[in-house]
Amino acid sequence: MALMIRNGEIVTVGSRVQADVYVENETITRIGRNLEAPPNAEIIDATGKLVFPGFIDPHVHIYLPFMATFAKDTHETGSIAALIGGTTTYIEMCCPNRNDDALEGYQLWKSKADGKSACDYAFHMSVTKFVKETESQLRQIVADGTASFKIFLAYKNFFGVDDGEMYQTLELAKRLGVIVTAHCENAELVARLQQKLLAEGKIGPEWHEPSRPESVEAEGTGRFATFLENLGTTGYVVHLSCEKALHAALDAKSRGVKIFVESVLPHFLLDKSYAERPGVEGMKHVMSPPLRAKHNQAVLWNGLALGSIDTVGTDHCPFDTEQKLLGKDSFVSIPNGIPGIEDRVNLLYTHGVKRGRLDLDRFVDAASTRAAKLFGLFPRKGTIAVGSDADLVVYDPSFRGVVSAKSQHVNNDYNGFEGMEIEGRPSVVTVRGKVQVRDGKFIGERGRGKMLKREPTHF
Ligand code: URP
Ligand code: ZN
Ligand code: ZN
Repeated sequence: MALMIRNGEIVTVGSRVQADVYVENETITRIGRNLEAPPNAEIIDATGKLVFPGFIDPHVHIYLPFMATFAKDTHETGSIAALIGGTTTYIEMCCPNRNDDALEGYQLWKSKADGKSACDYAFHMSVTKFVKETESQLRQIVADGTASFKIFLAYKNFFGVDDGEMYQTLELAKRLGVIVTAHCENAELVARLQQKLLAEGKIGPEWHEPSRPESVEAEGTGRFATFLENLGTTGYVVHLSCEKALHAALDAKSRGVKIFVESVLPHFLLDKSYAERPGVEGMKHVMSPPLRAKHNQAVLWNGLALGSIDTVGTDHCPFDTEQKLLGKDSFVSIPNGIPGIEDRVNLLYTHGVKRGRLDLDRFVDAASTRAAKLFGLFPRKGTIAVGSDADLVVYDPSFRGVVSAKSQHVNNDYNGFEGMEIEGRPSVVTVRGKVQVRDGKFIGERGRGKMLKREPTHF
């Protein structure tokens, strides 16, 4: 059925216009004033509202066997939470570990999403070892439409690769035109510092940050950048958390290295004092890289406003209270991660745009358009244009609410942003022309989401 969104303020990167958007067969076919619609078209009045392109979360974990447990969401719960928060596409990290076969892992991750997600999705393929079959397997995975890789420089002996494996992955990625995303921390230093702190009897969550200090992340970021520089590969640093690591990335950029930067929601809004709270309250805020000293937040906001931080993701990774307590006797056993998929857009809009830290243009770019461009989804996703998929967010800037585990759709018993105010939320969210969300409620079609096939673009 046709859909008309009337009289909203359409916001895309570089443009703000009051107009109607008309959708037929999942695609935007007309944009203009006072458009005609057939009598059977569904009409949405967007007067007084902003109309954004569907938001894209470039870094989520849905299915994740990790740290002796599994992240809590399924694609059913995660996608509904995403949509309620305005995210219409997410890119999941496909994360088989070093002992798994990469291709079998890829099929497993795909099977978990197939027919289950209510929004569209894609994968970054993690390369967690480089053995004789890796090149042919990665070629098959890229040919299947997964045109981005992920490497972990942390998580020694599990997801982590050594420098030789990083070299081989980046070298292949360059030949294939694939962008490589990277978790940048020095695995050896983390392992040694963890052992040292535990030997000193420092076992609580407050020691997680000192076990992976800013210099450890800056070293990983700088090393990744140096490898990119020497191989000519395009790279993307995930969840960059601090000033020192940002300097390492920007220093490389100034040398001409093709490096892009993502920071994730928690690092803009929370600081390390959250992980220093006693007991399980601290454990709820353990993630890697860790929450940092507060002064880093202003650096990240400025970097985001200037565009030196390209995107804002979530690293959505929900572990519940019981799972967090796996680390009650040792911070190294606290499952790393925090949910965020439902709250990213509203919190970024509130604390970025409404608080004057971010203009609307950069907000749309960082939360949607730039990820679409970097990861081969543009202009199908990430903008509002004739021919683009009709993933639209009709956003109500007059809404007022509070983030809480009590009202969330993420499958978890806490929310790391509990009590934070939001000033705006999606009133209507569409996925390829179908209304999936109205006023905070999922009213759409489960399993509507499709895996997005992407071509390599980084030659
Ligand atoms: O703490 C985090 N970030 N957990 C998820 C795994 C990862 O490093 O992305
Ligand atoms: Zn990571
Ligand atoms: Zn992650």
